[in-house]
Amino acid sequence: MTQWIKIAEIDDVPRGAGRAFEVEGISIAVFNVDGRLYAIDDNCPHQGSSLAMGRLDGYVVTCRSHGMKVNVTAGELQPGLGLNVRSFPVESRPDGLYVGLQTSS
Ligand code: FES
Repeated sequence: MTQWIKIAEIDDVPRGAGRAFEVEGISIAVFNVDGRLYAIDDNCPHQGSSLAMGRLDGYVVTCRSHGMKVNVTAGELQPGLGLNVRSFPVESRPDGLYVGLQTSS
């Protein structure tokens, strides 16, 4: 079951940028690529830097610490090695931005 949680106002993630939000104890990076939103775990799998603070180029964010690249659409590390960071559904609704978290019930 998916629990949808409001994390921000509609304009809080501008085009071409990422922002980090704390949701239920999870740091989630939300990216805006040409008006489409993507949400992945904010913690870089290398040493935990914020991916939201990285440089976004198209669908790929480059970690500012040591240059790891992650495709924000599904959290896949680049080049594709079959390794992913967690991704989350994200929606823009009339009253704000929502992410979906899986619940056990
Ligand atoms: S912490 Fe991201 S590449 Fe090292």
